[in-house]
Amino acid sequence: MALSTIAIAAMTLNACGPPEPEGPTEQIIVRDRGAPDVVATGTEAPIEVGLLTVGKTAFEANCAICHAVDVGASSGIGPSLNGVVGRPAASLDDFAYSNAMQASGITWTTGEIDAYIANPTAMLPGTSMAGVMVTNAQDRNAITAYLEILGSD
Ligand code: HEC
Repeated sequence: MALSTIAIAAMTLNACGPPEPEGPTEQIIVRDRGAPDVVATGTEAPIEVGLLTVGKTAFEANCAICHAVDVGASSGIGPSLNGVVGRPAASLDDFAYSNAMQASGITWTTGEIDAYIANPTAMLPGTSMAGVMVTNAQDRNAITAYLEILGSD
């Protein structure tokens, strides 16, 4: 036992000569693709799927507490927003709109909705949609894209 331990120690010592020149090393180039870019950066056009994912999330965070979006959904605290893009304002029978909304003459485009959710009472004084302000323009853009898609099923 003791002998073989010494033999191994000696072999290890013998291996410690001058450093051998390193042979050719294999190069592995890893290209960093980064995380999938689902959020608009402001300079690049976001991919559609990412935009809708952001829109759904932002809608759920800012709007879903008052608005349903499912096909055939009833209005709640706010009118149903399924198919709202292209719809004249105040056109659902199952919702009691403000006088301001009924008299607005708006037909909802993504641009009109963007302006409305940025500051509802500034765009439409007297509207009963209060306490909602989506200050982030990218979130507004994603929300209106999401609403537009929902209207096209
Ligand atoms: C606190 C509840 C509440 C929240 C949150 C809310 N809304 Fe509303 N929304 C309303 C009410 C109430 C009305 C009706 C306004 C009126 O009649 O003046 C309305 C009306 C609307 C209309 C007009 C619909 C129509 O049929 O003419 C749009 C578009 C709209 N909301 C979009 C949004 C979006 C997008 C969000 C999220 C960013 C949002 N709302 C968040 C309560 C809310």
